[in-house]
Amino acid sequence: MENHYLLRLEHAAKTFVLHGLGGKKIMGFRDINFTVRRGESVGLAGPSGSGKSSIIKSIYRTYLLSHGHIWYDSKYYDGIVDISKIPERAVHLIRTNEIGYISQFLRVIPRVAAVEIVAEPLIRNGVPEVEAKKVSSDLLKRLLLPENLHDAYPSTFSGGEQQKINIAKTIVWRPRLLLLDEPTASLDTHSVSIVMGLLKELKEGGTAMVGIFHDAQIMNDFADTVYNIDRGFYVEQ
Ligand SMILES: Nc1ncnc2c1ncn2[C@@H]1O[C@H](COP(=O)(O)OP(=O)(O)OP(=O)(O)O)[C@@H](O)[C@H]1O
Ligand SMILES: [Mg+2]
Repeated sequence: MENHYLLRLEHAAKTFVLHGLGGKKIMGFRDINFTVRRGESVGLAGPSGSGKSSIIKSIYRTYLLSHGHIWYDSKYYDGIVDISKIPERAVHLIRTNEIGYISQFLRVIPRVAAVEIVAEPLIRNGVPEVEAKKVSSDLLKRLLLPENLHDAYPSTFSGGEQQKINIAKTIVWRPRLLLLDEPTASLDTHSVSIVMGLLKELKEGGTAMVGIFHDAQIMNDFADTVYNIDRGFYVEQ
């Protein structure tokens, strides 16, 4: 494998085995091959159920592959590793320092203020609390989250407001690889364009991305390359 790839999927396949249903097998995706370089944005398109989310979850190691490889060039762990084979402590290290994942839904943490949720990854990485909160608050302002909500608990926020927290808490620490599963689905068009602007800034800073966007125009704006996934097969570029 060439060194300049940050991520490379090789014949990646996932079959789900439903143990509760007598071992019934469901195909998630099969024979997926693509590479992502530093600062490159790759889009995954295709019909509902074609396996897009499952591919992203496998890159994040939420799912283990049934077949093939997900090569990732890690900075903090051990150079090029197979995401599907590394130990749990490496998964933790990579998730907290290198790979960010934004889905459509915020897992709300009770009684933690919005700005604290966003600042937490910075504080964990040694940024002084006052500075971390300032950076987080500035980011939330850019995302048009009303200032009186910065100190409030997101459990009562609207869907779009929660999503802004979800986006902010991941882009704030500028991951090397960012995984996006319909992150803008619950946002109004103006907020979407702000998020797309923030993603462009991350990209210019070298962040590589793999993203799913149902809106064709947003996808076009986002991706350097789009791969069409159909019934688990990679179809064409
Ligand atoms: N944890 C799981 N257990 C069993 N089957 C699963 C699991 N996750 C996904 N699947 C199945 O894998 C297939 C692909 O699902 P996936 O969510 O990846 O599709 P998708 O392309 O993201 O669809 P959508 O555009 O609707 O979000 C589906 O048939 C789904 O039922
Ligand atoms: Mg999906």
